[in-house]
Formats: sequence, structure tokens, C-alpha cells
Amino acid sequence: MSRIVYVNGTYLPEEEARVSIFDRGFLFADGVYEVTSVLDGRLVDFDGHAARLERSLSELEMDSPVGRSELLDIHRELVTRNGLTEGMIYLQITRGTADRDFAFPEGATPTLVMFTQATPLIDRPAARNGIRVISIPDMRWARRDIKTVQLLYPSMGKMAAKKAGADDAWMVEEDFVTEGTSNNAWIVRDGRIVTRHLSTEILHGITRAAVLRLAAEAQMVVEERPFSLAEARAADEAFVTSASTFVTPVVEIDGAPVGDGTPGPVARRLRELYIAEMRAAAI
Ligand code: PDD
Repeated sequence: MSRIVYVNGTYLPEEEARVSIFDRGFLFADGVYEVTSVLDGRLVDFDGHAARLERSLSELEMDSPVGRSELLDIHRELVTRNGLTEGMIYLQITRGTADRDFAFPEGATPTLVMFTQATPLIDRPAARNGIRVISIPDMRWARRDIKTVQLLYPSMGKMAAKKAGADDAWMVEEDFVTEGTSNNAWIVRDGRIVTRHLSTEILHGITRAAVLRLAAEAQMVVEERPFSLAEARAADEAFVTSASTFVTPVVEIDGAPVGDGTPGPVARRLRELYIAEMRAAAI
């Protein structure tokens, strides 16, 4: 069944949706995006995603074609028109259409595209069984805090994982894990939860922020600091967080089991806390 998608002010069937070949998102990856999850037909942490989007746009001196409340209306309208109960909403804003030139064009109108993806988020095999990751060097650009659509290297990382019989890749820079190809990376050691501190080296995950808050509320000890690949391999538990995976256990790194090779209690507890809180707070 065809979806109803949103393109620059219009709702239309996906087959009819068009963007110009001169769009700078297409020619230069000159665009930013957000992925917001939907539970029970409601949006999870919309304000967090909207705030990060505003920051990404401002770092790139890009205008938004709509304000935050209109953005919320479009999200809700897409949920309604597509009867979405569980899944994601993808949003992309590019600098717009202009003849090809490296310099930012004057006065281009930004392109806004949004669509839904229906998929189970709660009841997933990966959440029950955990995922296996490989490590790869982090070869992305140095402004990973901006959520741009330059996703070729993460795609290559996912393919390398697939070829190795794994599910995903953790990226490593100077021996330290930065993050997963499309998620933030965490380990648990001696009862302490560790995830890399915020900087330009990683994306400031909206799920990460919520999980940090929930862990603190549950009196868990959390350290925001870099951890090495060796430390991750010796950890009791590991997990990833993102809008599409929530909290998902990592049970293997580079072919070696993490802990006893099964999802650990901390990851399971944080997943439960996250889902309960987000279900209650979704709008
Ligand atoms: N990815 N790090 C990277 C590199 C990411 O691409 C993502 C999200 C995250 C987690 O951020 P959040 O918790 O705000 O989803 C961390 C999305 C889900 C994607 O590209 O599909």
C-alpha cells in the first residue's frame, strides 16, 4: 500500500513525490535530518528532535521552511493519514534547489520532505537476543554533532558488518569507540555505565540524553567519558541507543562475546524504563 508523504507543503502519494535534480541535498549532501519514533500513534521526544534539528540547521546557516509547531502538525498529520501506530517519521531539510555551485546559494528555498516507516519498535528480535557488532575505523568528517545526510560511511560500515555476519559496526578513533553507525555506544563495567561524553566527535543522541536521565533517576552510576575498544571487549555488558532501536543489547564485539554473550540486566532494565517513560510522555 502506498504511503502519503509530505513534500514542501503538499501531502501526496509516494509515487508522485518529486524533488529537483538540482536539489543541494542530492548534489552536495547539503541537508540535515531527524528520525522520530512513534509509539501508540504518538511521537516520542518530539521536542528533543525539534531542538536538535534547529541546532543542526543553525550550525549550517540553513533556514527552516516551517516553525516548530507547524512541524509538529505535519508529523501528526502524517501519522493520521498513514494510520501509523508504531514506527518512525523521517524528516529531511536541504538548503534547496540552485544551479550547481559549491558556495551556498543566496535566497534558495529550503526543501522539506517527510515520510513514515511502519515497523515494530518494541517487539524486535534484536531487543530480545541482542546484536553483534564489528569494529571499524571512524572515517567520517569531524562535525558528527550535526545530523547531516552524509551517510555513505555509515552505510559502508553496515555493509562491512553484514559481510562479516554481524548486525552493525562500532566506529573507533585512536583506540576509543566514538559511536555506532547510527546509534550511540555504551558499556557496563563493574556496575558502572559508560558512554562517550558529548563533543563534535559524536551525534548528541536524543535517546542517549533520556537514558542518561533515567539511569540517574534509578540511582545507577554513569560515567560520560571515552572508552577504548579493549575496555568494551572486557565489559560485562554493552548496548546501543537510538530513536529506532531504543536500548538494544550488544552481545558480541568482533566475534567475541560481551560478558556471558546474552543481553545483560542493565540494558534490559534501561530498555524497560525507557519504553515505559516514553509511552507515558509521547505526544
Ligand atoms: N540515527 N549516532 C548516530 C551516528 C546516529 O545516526 C544516531 C541516530 C544516533 C542516535 O541518536 P538518536 O538517539 O537521537 O536517534 C547516534 C538515526 C536513528 C538514523 O540515522 O536512522
